[in-house]
Order: sequence, then C-alpha cells, then structure tokens
Amino acid sequence: MVIDGELAVETRGLRKSFRTLRGRRVGVENLDLRVPVGGVHGFLGPNGSGKTTTIRMLLGLARPDRGTATIFGHEVPRHLPDVVGRVGAIVESPRFFPAFTGRSNLRLLADAIGTPRDRVDAVLEEVGLSGRAGDPYRTYSLGMKQRLAIGATLLKDPDLLIFDEPTNGLDPAGIHEIRRTMRDLADRGRTVLVSSHILAEVQQVADSVSIVARGRLIAEGRVADLVAGQAGQAVRVGLASDEVAVAASVLGARGLSVERDGAALVVEGAGAAAVNRMLGEQGVWARELAPRQVDLESVFLGLTQTETAGESV
Ligand SMILES: Nc1ncnc2c1ncn2[C@@H]1O[C@H](COP(=O)(O)OP(=O)(O)O)[C@@H](O)[C@H]1O
Ligand SMILES: [Mg+2]
Repeated sequence: MVIDGELAVETRGLRKSFRTLRGRRVGVENLDLRVPVGGVHGFLGPNGSGKTTTIRMLLGLARPDRGTATIFGHEVPRHLPDVVGRVGAIVESPRFFPAFTGRSNLRLLADAIGTPRDRVDAVLEEVGLSGRAGDPYRTYSLGMKQRLAIGATLLKDPDLLIFDEPTNGLDPAGIHEIRRTMRDLADRGRTVLVSSHILAEVQQVADSVSIVARGRLIAEGRVADLVAGQAGQAVRVGLASDEVAVAASVLGARGLSVERDGAALVVEGAGAAAVNRMLGEQGVWARELAPRQVDLESVFLGLTQTETAGESV
C-alpha cells in the first residue's frame, strides 16, 4: 500500500553525508519519508541506517546536503519557527532533578517554555503518572522516567511527537508502558513518529511504518499490508523422521505448499489446526506444531535478501 492523504512529515530526496577520516560517509541517501497525519508511524531500520540523522534534519539540528523536508506542509528547517509549536520531540534523554517530584520537574519546564502551570496535571494524566506525580523523580522506574520525558514533550500540546528509540535501555515492562503511552497519544488524535531498530517490537503499536536500510527507504505502508504481502499462514510441523515423507505427500495432496527442513515440514496455506487434522486423518501424528509468525523482522530480511541477491547479479 502506498501512504497517501494528509502528511504530517514528508521528505523528498533527503541526503546527508558526513566527512570522515576515510572520505565521506553517507548517513541518509535520497530518502522519501511519508508520515500520515494521525496514528503511530514506525521509522524502522537497523542501527546505523540513518534514523537519528533524519530526525535531526527534521528538527533543524542537522543540515541536509540535498532534498527537502516538510512538517504539516511547512518547509523545514527554513520555516521551522512556523511549525515548531506543533512538534514535541525526544532525541536525547532530558535531564530531570532526581530529588524533585515529577510534578515539580514538569512545572519548572513549563515555566521555562512559558506554558501555563495548569497544563502540567493534564500532561501527567496523559502519560499515566497522576498517581506518582508527587513522588521524587529518583524513585521512578525506567519506564516512568521515560513517560515523564514524554510528558515534557506534551507541555506545548503538540500535534506531532517524534521519539527517537524511546524504549532503548528499558526492560520489558517499561517497553510495554511506552508502547501503551504512544498508543494512547495517537488515540487522542496526535501523530507519533517513533524510530526503532527492533522491528518486531514496533509492529504491535504502529499503524504504518517506513523501513530503512543503509540510509535508503526499502518499504513503507500499513503494517498489516506489509506482513500480509510477505507470506500467508505458515506452520512448522515437527515429525518422527520416518514419517516426514508420508506427511509431505499427505499435505501436498491437499494442495498445500510443503518445504522440508530436517525432521520438520514448513507448510504454507493452512493453519495449525487444519494441518493437524489432515495428518491425523491419515494416521500421521505431529510431534510439534508451531504457527510461523510473519513479523516485520522477516519482512525486512526478505526485502534485504532480495536486494542483496539483485546486487550480486
Ligand atoms: N556526526 C557524524 N559523523 C560521522 N558519521 C555519522 C555522524 N552521525 C551519523 N553518522 C553515520 O551515519 C550513519 C547513520 O547514523 P544514524 O542516523 O545515527 O543511524 P541510526 O539512528 O539509524 O542508528 C551511520 O553510518 C553513522 O555512523
Ligand atoms: Mg539512532
């Protein structure tokens, strides 16, 4: 699927290279990024694929060699002042005072940016910290600390939030909290652009994604479409080694695509229950049945393998 409709962020032909001791290194190459208004958009790619560099260019922190970028239709960085009030971002972790409460920390920030202090409690509520707002920051879990950082970006009541790898360094509980917070923000009408190198993790929260590798866009679209486009249902069936051949012919005769993998078969075209029944009816009993989940990680691997295969020809 192609992303269309109103765009919160759009880049065209964006490029950024860096001078290094060994010549120039390209961080972002000819990138066309499109982030629809509303929802969570995952900006995904392995480490070093140009995500932070792109975000820094959007925020006016790095200058592109070429190409253009717009936020809500305003060209940035040239017209960033016109739109900066509508954008909140965490690129590096903000500093909070450990001995101050979450509420006092946000009040200090609100004063610094000229936001009325009564906004602070609304923000604490939005990131689910109302119950702990009066506790010192140092007593917060990592997930709560990161939620307070997200809260800080909400003080200006922005329409677009940009989070660069917000779950880095968090434990599974913290990751879950941040995912939920991002989902809530999007459900309340904001647009969330979130980068990550862990594709499968963002899959659960993102409505749409852009996948980059080595500074280039390799896929974009709605998560469901990307996953569906890659492969259908698949099941891995573990068998006794002397039953692999007969199982393959039973399933093959039912029109399923069957691939042998040692003492197992990878079957496409039916779910685990159906495969189990087809085999059982013929007196073949699977030792193990595992639905093979297609996630963005495998979409990514599929796409990069194709790319490499193409290059080597
Ligand atoms: N200031 C810099 N100087 C030299 N190279 C850089 C600089 N910033 C980023 N790079 C290079 O640009 C590429 C993309 O980096 P980055 O945008 O940080 O990737 P990501 O955020 O996806 O991990 C990497 O090869 C990185 O080494
Ligand atoms: Mg980065």
